[in-house]
Amino acid sequence: MGASDGKILEPLIAALRRASSVFALTGSGISAESGVPTFRGAGGPWRTHRAEQLASPEGFTRDPRLVWTWYNERLAAHRRAQPNAGHHALARLERSLRDFTLVTQNVDSLHVRAGSRNVVELHGHLREARCTGCDARRGLDEEGLPLDEIEHACGGRFRPNVVWFGEALPEESWRSAEAAARRADVVLVVGTSAVVYPAASSATNYNRRAFVAEINPEATPISERVSCVLRAPAAQALPQIVDAFA
Ligand code: OAD
Repeated sequence: MGASDGKILEPLIAALRRASSVFALTGSGISAESGVPTFRGAGGPWRTHRAEQLASPEGFTRDPRLVWTWYNERLAAHRRAQPNAGHHALARLERSLRDFTLVTQNVDSLHVRAGSRNVVELHGHLREARCTGCDARRGLDEEGLPLDEIEHACGGRFRPNVVWFGEALPEESWRSAEAAARRADVVLVVGTSAVVYPAASSATNYNRRAFVAEINPEATPISERVSCVLRAPAAQALPQIVDAFA
């Protein structure tokens, strides 16, 4: 495992103590222990569905009801899930630092529910739908969007407020993520395969002096380039880190 070995944690804890700015990038792995499947893992959506059919503007134009049926199911699963010890540890870490930015690729709202405040949701979220025509917003409860309410009065359609394949990231979110990555002294990369750009690049490309720790039970394309690797589930490693630091 590794994280329980205090020696492995030492350099990271020392870097955290010296840091004036900390940046965390999370992916679906942090929610694995909350019961939300990762994208590329067993049972994940990218294994069982053709992603472009469901998560692209073309897929939505072709069959908006199919797309909403799938997102409504995901939303219901997110609402049933509870933030785990990893989400809570990051919220706790934020409270003990002056400058902490959490950038997540997840749309499950579990960081927000765990009490993290400075959260950049790079791929959007499923708390609301937005209109393709006039950009109107509409809150989503646990039922999601009723399929007969997809069409909006303006002539547009309500779509999930998430980023799809082929779409640009919301400019403001990306700018804050980039700025936080650039000024960070410590970067935590948690539960992401680090293969989806540009999100993954924020952890490695913008700041070469930062101490970068990867928290992931599996190797990823960035494992070779980071300062320290904790091969452990996030719900186990993050509380250990925060307990040792705080
Ligand atoms: P992936 O499914 O690509 O990667 C999940 C990562 O989490 C893998 O590296 C796993 O080894 C790791 N993992 C699994 N269980 C874990 C645990 N308990 N603790 C820590 N790590 C664990 O998911 P993402 O990297 O989030 O984009 O995928 C990135 C983006 O790809 C998603 O946001 C989505 C998708 O296309 C959009 O929808 C725009």
